[in-house]
Amino acid sequence: MNDYKAALNLAHQESLRFLEELRDSPADAEIDQATARSRLVTDLPDTGLPDEDVIAELIAAAKGGIPRQAGGRFFGFVMGGIHPAGVAADWLSSAWDDAPGTPLAAPFGCAVDRLAGEWALDLMDLPREASVGIVTGATMGNFVGACAARHALLRREGWDVEAQGLFGAPEIHVVTGDAHPTMLLALRMAGFGAARRHIVPLTEDGAIRADALAEILAGLEGPILICAQAGHINTSAFDPFPEICALAKEHGAWVHIDGAFGLWAQASPALRHLTNGVELADSWSVDAHKLLNTPYDGAFAIVRDRDAHAGTMSLAASYLPQQEGARDPSHFVPELSRRARGTAIYATIRKLGRHGVADAIEKLCANTKLMAELLTAEDGITCLNDVVFNQAVFSFEGASPDDVALAVRQSGEAWVQAADWQGQRIMRCSVADHSTTKGDVERAASAIINAYRELARKDS
Ligand SMILES: Cc1ncc(COP(=O)(O)O)c(C=O)c1O
Repeated sequence: MNDYKAALNLAHQESLRFLEELRDSPADAEIDQATARSRLVTDLPDTGLPDEDVIAELIAAAKGGIPRQAGGRFFGFVMGGIHPAGVAADWLSSAWDDAPGTPLAAPFGCAVDRLAGEWALDLMDLPREASVGIVTGATMGNFVGACAARHALLRREGWDVEAQGLFGAPEIHVVTGDAHPTMLLALRMAGFGAARRHIVPLTEDGAIRADALAEILAGLEGPILICAQAGHINTSAFDPFPEICALAKEHGAWVHIDGAFGLWAQASPALRHLTNGVELADSWSVDAHKLLNTPYDGAFAIVRDRDAHAGTMSLAASYLPQQEGARDPSHFVPELSRRARGTAIYATIRKLGRHGVADAIEKLCANTKLMAELLTAEDGITCLNDVVFNQAVFSFEGASPDDVALAVRQSGEAWVQAADWQGQRIMRCSVADHSTTKGDVERAASAIINAYRELARKDS
């Protein structure tokens, strides 16, 4: 007999405890992966356990193993926070075991999936005729974009890539700037090969230089896919979309935009200048679990040419009948069975409304500027990018950014991390959680400055 009540009550209590303690807990996890594993039952048991005991065991094993990325002081990756409505909707999707692959098996899930996509187009003011697939993340959004581009560009050449594959097909030239590694993964999965791309010289902050793109395109014959970016992972630089799309039009090229987090600038009247011209592209990838702060996972794969989108992603089987007038979400994503990601997205947007989304994005941007202001007031700390959105990168004179970041994480005050940028190690700061307050930024900045002072003194 399944005892839902006991297991779900336990999960409910633990979720509330975790969330209530979130803001006062250390930003980092307190145990590593090996310790976490040592707490789990590693040898496959021959016999099972009552549901409630399984959950109790999981809760005990997870203690201290979850970084508090929704606690307001997590600035490491562009990971974002959560909203109560989104989390609760996600719970419901699990309880309903809702799987919006086909409308026959999930009428409600398919309706919400569709609406979440329509709202995404509205919020980001993208062409309303575009089709939307709700995928796991921007990685898969990039993959869908690359596949749709492949389909449409080769169709124009008289080549049916879905039937014939890429062997012997006319060559598609791929042009990128400093693409996110997941864009390169998407290109690899779509059969383009990451190393064959033409790389466009960049501006200081990592955006494509339109003059350099023009030069590269002038030397190419045949179909072209341009992968542009709304929001560079380190600097949040935005590519010059009007110029890129005008050049693409001249050369018959397809423009895909990886807008994992940066495309959300479109949702704010105050920040839309950053994404000017983005609506002229052919396909877009944007995460919900990043700046919209839905629970993991969820993202939008958006394609202007619905036929190319469905042409590359749809499948058919006699046991999956089409319903008259119903939309089949599985025609726009690379999966058949999938969790109902649209439900948590719908609930989060429903809670925030259009203005709430804009306010949340603007707040992230203001907090990033504040972080840069507070840190650069300290002698020896330099901000290396123009802080236009939610990303800032810092160098530390006389101290290693890796050491500073580690010391800050160990203090529990904030979560930051180092990376390479423009030939040097830097500390990255991504502001992606709507619950981050001015006080959280001040607390994190103090921790970073204290760690830096301590390390710079030791080194001198
Ligand atoms: C610019 C960019 N593109 C793509 C991705 C991949 O997104 P996801 O991890 O949601 O698949 C990221 C993740 O940080 C990103 O910053």
